[in-house]
Amino acid sequence: MSAPARPRILSGIQPSGKLHLGNYFGAIRQHIALQHEGSAYYFIADYHALTTLQDRQLFAEAVRDVALDYLALGLDPSAAVLWRQSDVPEVTELTWLLATVTGMGLLERGHSYKDKIARGITPRAGLFLYPVLMAADILAFESDLVPVGKDQVQHVEMTQDMAESFHAAYGCSVFVRPEARLAEGAAVVPGIDGQKMSKSYGNTIEIFASGKPLKKRVMSVVTDSLGVDDAKDPESCTIFQLYRLMASEAQTGEMAEHLRRGGYGYGDAKKELLAAIESTFAEARARRIELAADPDHVEDVLATGARRAREVARRVLGAAREAVGMRGRPIDA
Ligand code: ADP
Ligand code: TRP
Repeated sequence: MSAPARPRILSGIQPSGKLHLGNYFGAIRQHIALQHEGSAYYFIADYHALTTLQDRQLFAEAVRDVALDYLALGLDPSAAVLWRQSDVPEVTELTWLLATVTGMGLLERGHSYKDKIARGITPRAGLFLYPVLMAADILAFESDLVPVGKDQVQHVEMTQDMAESFHAAYGCSVFVRPEARLAEGAAVVPGIDGQKMSKSYGNTIEIFASGKPLKKRVMSVVTDSLGVDDAKDPESCTIFQLYRLMASEAQTGEMAEHLRRGGYGYGDAKKELLAAIESTFAEARARRIELAADPDHVEDVLATGARRAREVARRVLGAAREAVGMRGRPIDA
């Protein structure tokens, strides 16, 4: 089958802490760029977050932060639909329909589930069913493309399997087959210790940090112990790896040359990195402050998004309900 002219692009963002440069260059930047390439649907995966975060206050703040972050970083509500997962209850209803056709074996093979258990997260039923909820998210909105990081590709493949099992069980064809889309050219962004940047490693540089805390983070990027005068290798320098994500080609070339030539210390490079971070996100930072001062506007964007998203989910869920032998809509809905 040929790809639709305006594919439905869908992704979910877990509200699980302050966003960092790895999230931006690995995922968010691509989400924002895609909003003009198709019919973009993005939601804040708050039901998913409940599988690991059970703190009323932190939860509410994290949900609000994702909305502010995405809008500040350039998500345009007139181009993309943005909503909160829990505002579209059809998704949880579809989760159940899918769970009834999903083999235990499929879920037991989940890398993400196994990783989380290995990290000491309590194995609850919700965590185990996480991929089924994710499949419902994807299928309820007729998604063609699902931009995700490598760690989530298996979940999209599981979604394809669940859609097929449902179609086979009921002799129907109610779901669109989704494909995962990996961020093009997105490299793994290193953290301040040189490992992959991740909030679970405590090595992040937050996008919206500023002033002293930001400076402190940048100044603590780990380097080798070469002195100012020594020649240095840019490719093995974390400061350079981060800098090139934000600097122009000419600036990147200049820093590489300075490092190779010697007479240029890591302290100098850190100052340039700090300036690059500040200027790259200056506009977004100002916009975030404006948005935070207008919570009604943010709430409006999410409510409008939920209404639009719900129209699609109602239709798909209706077809799935009919396929199993129920009426298309529950009574009074
Ligand atoms: P974390 O590792 O901090 O918990 P998440 O797993 O919540 O981050 O990731 C959210 C998104 O950001 C995913 O799409 C993931 O692929 C991307 N991402 C996270 N860290 C990095 C990184 N260091 N480099 C590139 N992409 C990343
Ligand atoms: N599990 C995804 C993550 O941790 C978030 C997510 C939930 C998602 N539902 C989704 C991503 C549907 C894509 C499509 O990053």
